[in-house]
Amino acid sequence: MIRERILVIGASGQIGVELTLALRKIYGNNNVVASDLREENDLLKGTGPYVSLDVMNKEMLHVQVIRQNITQIYLLAAILSATGEKNPNLAWHLNMQGLLNVLDIAREEKIYKVYWPSSIAVFGPTSPKQNCPQQTIIEPITVYGISKYAGEFWCNYYHQRFHVDVRSLRYPGLISYKSAPGGGTTDYAIEIFHEALEEKKYQCFLNEDTYLPMMYMPDAIKATIELMEAPAANISIRTSYNISAMSFSPKEIAAAIKNYIPEFNISYEPDYRQTIADSWPQSIDDSVARNDWGWKHEYDLLKMTKDMLENLRNT
Ligand SMILES: NC(=O)c1ccc[n+]([C@@H]2O[C@H](COP(=O)([O-])OP(=O)(O)OC[C@H]3O[C@@H](n4cnc5c(N)ncnc54)[C@H](O)[C@@H]3O)[C@@H](O)[C@H]2O)c1
Repeated sequence: MIRERILVIGASGQIGVELTLALRKIYGNNNVVASDLREENDLLKGTGPYVSLDVMNKEMLHVQVIRQNITQIYLLAAILSATGEKNPNLAWHLNMQGLLNVLDIAREEKIYKVYWPSSIAVFGPTSPKQNCPQQTIIEPITVYGISKYAGEFWCNYYHQRFHVDVRSLRYPGLISYKSAPGGGTTDYAIEIFHEALEEKKYQCFLNEDTYLPMMYMPDAIKATIELMEAPAANISIRTSYNISAMSFSPKEIAAAIKNYIPEFNISYEPDYRQTIADSWPQSIDDSVARNDWGWKHEYDLLKMTKDMLENLRNT
């Protein structure tokens, strides 16, 4: 049996922190090397090895992969949807070159498995709004969505041509309390909890009826690990899997929070992120993931709201 040595790139980010901690529980603290461009997140300190690493520096990345005897790479470094629209060149450059650097090194060093997340941002205004299927019209209008869609095809290419076992999920908006969100269009669904507890009011940057697909972080971590642990023969999608848990609007999440904080008030002041949100599907059909490797979510809006408020109150 192979002794796994895992490198997480972008480990100090919203997903990276929780995924690194979850992987350390499974594979042992010392076998999961966290890395990021920025400093080590406080929650990771003392839990295992950390290296400072720029995914754009291919040589440095290659040296680390060899030096640390890496067998699996989780690539989470990226510029997200809202930040990407402010700096399209940087978003394209990082999201593409970072992935190509990792895929190339994975091929050369015969890395056992690679994980790279895509996003519901691949979908555009011409994709079906409800239960958006795995295979459909995909015409993204953000640089983030374009980079993710191109990335999906690179993953598929490296798998077909060089047999790199790279796997991917199209995450919806991810909601979490441990580490701060990184500049996405769904960040409102995290900010709203902090503001509800601290200020009892929140000004939302999306309209009240903007339905978007969302997922609670424990489900996202579970999905990621289950996908990576599934037998290769079960993985029929080598671009990226649709995955979903819940869909709600700002009005609905505000109502769920009001169950616990009755004086909470929400107001709406849509900005440039409304256009991005309007271009995405409202709900996702993830039946292929459910059939292929048994995906099943645990958290809906009410269960997630209760858990978020309980945990934020205790921090
Ligand atoms: N959070 C979401 O709701 C969401 C939804 C869909 C897809 N995703 C995808 O999941 C992945 C992780 O997202 P996240 O929310 O954790 O993002 P994040 O912005 O919170 O974290 C990304 C991390 O990458 C690091 N990074 C940036 N440039 C780097 C570089 N050159 N070298 C090394 N590290 C670098 C950043 O310092 C940051 O810590 C991304 O690919 C993102 O597109 C996230």
